[in-house]
Amino acid sequence: MMKKLFLTIITSISLMIFSSFAQAEKNAELYEHGEEAHEAHCNKCHTNSVYTRENRFVKSMEALSKQVKRCSEGNKIAWFDEDAEAVAHFLNEKYYKF
Ligand code: HEC
Repeated sequence: MMKKLFLTIITSISLMIFSSFAQAEKNAELYEHGEEAHEAHCNKCHTNSVYTRENRFVKSMEALSKQVKRCSEGNKIAWFDEDAEAVAHFLNEKYYKF
């Protein structure tokens, strides 16, 4: 009885550790992909200083995702939603920190 409980606890702890590693790995991939896509397409009209300027207008994660879409559409970049998502993730991690 106790043994079974013990095993259940150990199993759930291992799963929790494993999934947090998997999540960190996924975030690292997202960041990298976002950084590359950003590098390739997003330095034409403005520099990175728009993300850190005093009066920046993006104030939430939602607004950031929208703005990334708007800018990529304006520039007619053939992007998938994943690309926009990755770039929003990258910009948030690096600059906005919502
Ligand atoms: C066709 C020109 C153009 C391209 C290319 C472009 N942007 Fe923009 N972006 C703008 C303009 C114009 C603004 C508004 C700048 C201002 O208000 O001074 C802006 C603003 C932004 C902001 C908001 C900054 C703030 O104030 O918080 C973000 C975020 C952004 N762009 C992301 C991107 C991303 C990501 C890409 C690549 C997909 C990109 N931009 C490519 C024109 C462009």
